[in-house]
Amino acid sequence: MKRIFSGAQPTGNIHIGNYLGALRNWAALQHEYESFFCIVNLHAITIPQDPQVLARKTRELARLYLASGIDPQVSIIFIQSDVPEHAELAWILNCITRKSELERMTQFKDKAAKQRESVGTGVLTYPVLMAADILLYQTDLVPVGHDQKQHLELTRDIAERFNRDYGQTFRVPDPYIPKVGARIQSLSDPAKKMSKSDEDANGAITLLDDTDTVRRKFKRAVTDSGTEIRFDETRPAITNLLTIYQLLADKQPAEVEAHFAGKGYAALKSELADVTIEFLRPLQARARGYDDAELDRILDSGRERAQAIARATLEEVKARMGLVGVQAKA
Ligand code: TYM
Repeated sequence: MKRIFSGAQPTGNIHIGNYLGALRNWAALQHEYESFFCIVNLHAITIPQDPQVLARKTRELARLYLASGIDPQVSIIFIQSDVPEHAELAWILNCITRKSELERMTQFKDKAAKQRESVGTGVLTYPVLMAADILLYQTDLVPVGHDQKQHLELTRDIAERFNRDYGQTFRVPDPYIPKVGARIQSLSDPAKKMSKSDEDANGAITLLDDTDTVRRKFKRAVTDSGTEIRFDETRPAITNLLTIYQLLADKQPAEVEAHFAGKGYAALKSELADVTIEFLRPLQARARGYDDAELDRILDSGRERAQAIARATLEEVKARMGLVGVQAKA
């Protein structure tokens, strides 16, 4: 069976962009692939985190994976820092990655531009840890949103380089980026992607938003000039709202346009709030349905199953590089 691996950071609040771009596809693909879904808390600490908040968000995200339809009987759900092989392989891969490759990453460039001299080393080497996550499991496919495309290309380059220099070791993974939903934009600024780290809380509908908040955020959502409701690249705000509607209502673009023909923006926003609330209500109930003991069992079993595979890959990598311990007589 082919494998998929993906993950999300337990920072900020996970939103419908994360769901539509990634988690939704994880749930859909899990029956066709052996699946690994990781809560990437080591990526989260590349920027300062309050320890208590991070710990709480890590478990909350595990609940939201489950609530999004990831079945722990089918898929492996685990916390990145529970499997130390991730950090160990990341170090090894750091040593075959060029600094210039990392400096070219647009996410790094954006953060470095904002933080200048204070930008952390972890922000620079972040994509190498991501490559380690993926390569440890001999992953075939990585379902992600559009913003991770460049990191996936780097992962492929790193895998190919290692295989060339040390012998065939890693499977070279393909990205899986959905045609629709891979880039949901902010509700307050359709030129920016919907983001967990956005200071403007109105830009994103989070998976744990209550009914009133959902209605208020959609009501405030920026629209374009004009009145027509149709998909149109030159009108990014309306196109973004229609994309969210299309996916949550499970409709084709033509059906959506026909449905809103002759209606105004207020109707679009109100119906969008309705389908979003209908989608979030059962999801939130499922998230609350897992008690702590059950969550512990799921994460513990996930760690065990993930680590067995991660360990085997890491052993092979170390042997290929001549990293032998005292027991191995060279
Ligand atoms: P993260 O936590 O930022 O986002 C989790 C997933 O959500 C997708 N996404 C979006 N999709 C559509 N529209 C948006 N506005 C939007 N914002 C985010 C992301 O593309 C991602 O798929 N580096 C990763 C986590 C990671 C990872 C990995 C992913 C670490 N190791 C290995 C795959 C494989 C990240 O920060 O995702």
